[in-house]
Parts: sequence; structure tokens; C-alpha cells
Amino acid sequence: MSPATHRVVIFDTTLRDGEQSPGAALNVSEKVEIAHALEEMGVDVIEAGFPVSSPGDFRAVQRISREIRNCIICGLTRANRKDIDVAAEALQEAAYPRIHTGLGVSDVHIRHKLRITQDEALERGVDAVKHAKKYVEDVQYYTEDAGRADPEYLYRVLQAVIAAGATVINIPDTTGYSTTDEFGALIRGIVDNVPNIHQATLSVHCHNDLGMATANTLAAVRNGARQVEVTVNGIGERAGNCSLEEVVMALRTRHDLFGLETGVSTRRIYPVSRLVSQLTGISVQPNKAIVGANAFAHSSGIHQDGVLKERTTYEIIDPRDVGVPDSEIVLSARSGRAGLRHRLAELGYTLDNEQFEKVYGRFLEVADKKKTVDTRDLEAIVADEVQMFFDETYHLEQVQVSCGDRSIPTATVSIRGPDGHVHCDADHGTGPVDAVYRAINRVIGEPNELIEFSVQAVTEGIDAVGRVTIRIQADEPVQENGVERRVFSGRGSDTDIVVASAKAYMFALNRLIAARREAGG
Ligand code: KIV
Ligand code: ZN
Repeated sequence: MSPATHRVVIFDTTLRDGEQSPGAALNVSEKVEIAHALEEMGVDVIEAGFPVSSPGDFRAVQRISREIRNCIICGLTRANRKDIDVAAEALQEAAYPRIHTGLGVSDVHIRHKLRITQDEALERGVDAVKHAKKYVEDVQYYTEDAGRADPEYLYRVLQAVIAAGATVINIPDTTGYSTTDEFGALIRGIVDNVPNIHQATLSVHCHNDLGMATANTLAAVRNGARQVEVTVNGIGERAGNCSLEEVVMALRTRHDLFGLETGVSTRRIYPVSRLVSQLTGISVQPNKAIVGANAFAHSSGIHQDGVLKERTTYEIIDPRDVGVPDSEIVLSARSGRAGLRHRLAELGYTLDNEQFEKVYGRFLEVADKKKTVDTRDLEAIVADEVQMFFDETYHLEQVQVSCGDRSIPTATVSIRGPDGHVHCDADHGTGPVDAVYRAINRVIGEPNELIEFSVQAVTEGIDAVGRVTIRIQADEPVQENGVERRVFSGRGSDTDIVVASAKAYMFALNRLIAARREAGG
């Protein structure tokens, strides 16, 4: 799997650094589903998780290792033997396993976080690489906070870990502190000053705290990096990681400048972006490059006129090249099963019969209310019916609300529980959504706090499908009798936003219950 130098290796860390975004918490099945989508899109490396961090992460790395055959599967560790032993175990069945170990290199990390000397940190790193080499040939070493490190010390560390057997070295700008010129020069300095650098692939991992992650990554590529660490939609710690779609499309659109290729099938970019947004509950901002709702929208008359005469007047990328569907095609109830099946295939969805029948049922309901169903409605339906949370303990059978300016909002819900019985209850609240949530709480009884609630119209018009995204926060038991406040997101869509709100709440509650079960609580 070693790349030619004209090839940039795409290392996707959506499932590890991306999943560290607050509220993104994915369950094992959702991670496996994303891993399959990444494989199909053509990424080279999937960082599947941090196996020692939780039983869920361990199982996700294990299942992804078993099921994905065409990518390198990578597990993160700290530079200690226990982490490495656990990662090696999780990666056992991978076709191409990689252990990603490492340690801080900046003064602030060595002095304040690690509280050891530079030499001790260097020795610890070398020992970790040697230990990982006992399990796998492919060992990647990260030099955390390299963006703020003393370059001379960084060169020493790199030389030592490559001599110990590291096959890839990762230069992270952990805090997103570097400017583009600085980061490019840091990479150039490494190429020029680390004598054995050509024995390893040079990788970069940029965070977006100053909005420069993509620019810094591309500057690094211009200076010799040949692996880029990215996430779908740029999700990740704080302001996120470098975005996969931006780097891949920059390399492709400006091939004249870079002269470099990736293995990504760019037409899969948009469907994968939607999948990640739906499963993590993190929406994509409308003006996000490449995958935002407005990325290819032309609103001013002058621009529209130009694009109609010649697309390239205002478009540097053909939206079809990144898989953005033609939203003008609409279906109606008369389109029937064949029409729906055909359109879903065009949009890149492969559904089995059971999934298709569920989608068809919902499609008929929406078509009945709205008359026409466009691409965005279909995406919302598939998200609800297929890319739905797998581990559903409680299922919402029915919700009914009465409200108005002269009445007390009151809701009745019927919920099927794990015992197979349907439980009904009712409550009132300050508004219809509050009443529904209280009624659901009476049945399920999982204490939590609603911290975010948003409604978006999926399409235009009074009959639009509404998508509700929520976040709830709850105390989760963690190892050694501790408690951690964790965030769970949920989403639901319907032409009735109260129903969509109920679905979103059920989604988040089921996630909370599954996480608790996974943690053994
Ligand atoms: O940002 C960072 O430094 C990281 C490392 C663990 C690779 O995510
Ligand atoms: Zn990171």
C-alpha cells in the first residue's frame, strides 16, 4: 500500500478525532456503516478509534478491522505498552493494520502535561514504536503539538522514531495555531533536516482553530507531505479538523498547481457528507465549501445569468463531480415503486427489500401530504427510515397533541418498550413539544436535560418536511465509580414538526440508553 510520490494518501479520522466533537457519539453499528461508506469512497486509511478508551471504541475498531478489506485500519494509542497491546488486539483481523502511537513534543506539553524531560519523552516514544513493531509492520508516530514545538527537538524525535521503525510520521498542528507560511516551512524544515525522513511517509494533521486547517494542509503538501489527515465535513475537537472534501477537491481542481492525485471517488463526497451529518447529528453550515447547501447556489441575477450562459463563469467545480443531486427532479405518489427505486439508485442509496418497503411507505405518506417529493425530502426519509439508530430500546408508536392559544398544551404518547408491551401516558406542558417530551419522560424515565433544539425546513413552502435536531445531556457512569456529563444528539423529520420533535427525542433517548448499556451501567 505504499504510495507513489504523485499520490496523496487520504487518512480519514472522522471516526476518531471527528467523533470527539461534542455530542457526536456514534454507536458501533453507526461507525461500521460510516467505515463502509469511506471504503467505497476510496480513502486509503481509516482511523477507526482509540481502542483503550472505551469498550465501544474497542468493539468498533474490531468490527471495522473484520469488515473493511480495502483500507488500512488504524487504531490510536498513547505512548505506553498497555494502550498498544489493546490496539493490537482490536486490529488483529485487519487486512492492513496500523498502530498510531505518539507523544507531545512542545515545551508546554512536555513540561505541563507529561511532566518529564525532553530526553525522557524521546525515549518513551522510541520504546512505544519498538513495542508496536512487535505486533504490526505499519507504525505511525504522532508528535502532538508539533505546530508549537522547538524544530530542533522535533527533528531529533523524528530521526529517532524512524530509526526505531516508524513507517509514517504525523506532524499535528494540534491547536490550530500555525499560519500557512509557518506550517509549510515546518514541513520543509523536516524534509531538509531529518536525515532518514525518506524512510517514512510524512503526514500532517491540522486543526481549524484559526480557520486555516485546509490551507495549512495544502501548504504542507506543497512542501513534501504525502499523507493528509482529514474528517468528513471537517468535524472534530473544538473548531474541527481539516475537511476531507476541501482538500480532495482543492487537489483535483488545482491539479495544474499541485500535480497530485488521490484515490477518492469524488462523486461519493456528497452522499458521505450527508451520512456523517445525519448519524452524528452535526449539521453542515449552509456556506460550507463543497458540501454546504449554498455551495452551488447562485442567487444574484448577474451570477445566474452568467451560469446559464456558461457554467464555468461562476462555478469552478461541477456539482455533479461531488455527487450533489439534481434537486429539480421530483416524484409523486404516481411514480410508484419503480420510479422511487430508480431515483434512490441515482442518489447513491442501495437498500435491501425491507429497507425499501419502509422508505416507500413513508414516501407515500409524504407524497399524500405534499403532492410532490423532491431530493431533499427523499434524503430526510432515507435518513429517518434506513440510516436510523439501530439499537432502538423504545419505539414511538403514536403521538397526539392538543394545543392552541386558549388551551393547555397536552400530549398523549404510546411507546413500545423492551418488554414488547405498548405503554401509554399523557402530560401537559408550556407548549406542544414540552408536553410531548414530558409525556415521553413519564414512560421512559431517563433523567436528562435538553440543551439544544433546532427546527429546519428541509424544503421550501408551507407543506415542507421539517427536520428537528436536538441535544440532551445526562450523567453517565464511567470507570472507577465516576460520572461524566455526556451529550447525545437526536434527529427526526416529518411534515408535522411536533411529530419530528418526538422522533428526535426518542432517537436521543435510545442513544443514551444504549451508551449506558454499553458502559455496563
Ligand atoms: O490533534 C492531535 O494532535 C491529534 C493526535 C492524537 C494525532 O489528534
Ligand atoms: Zn487531532
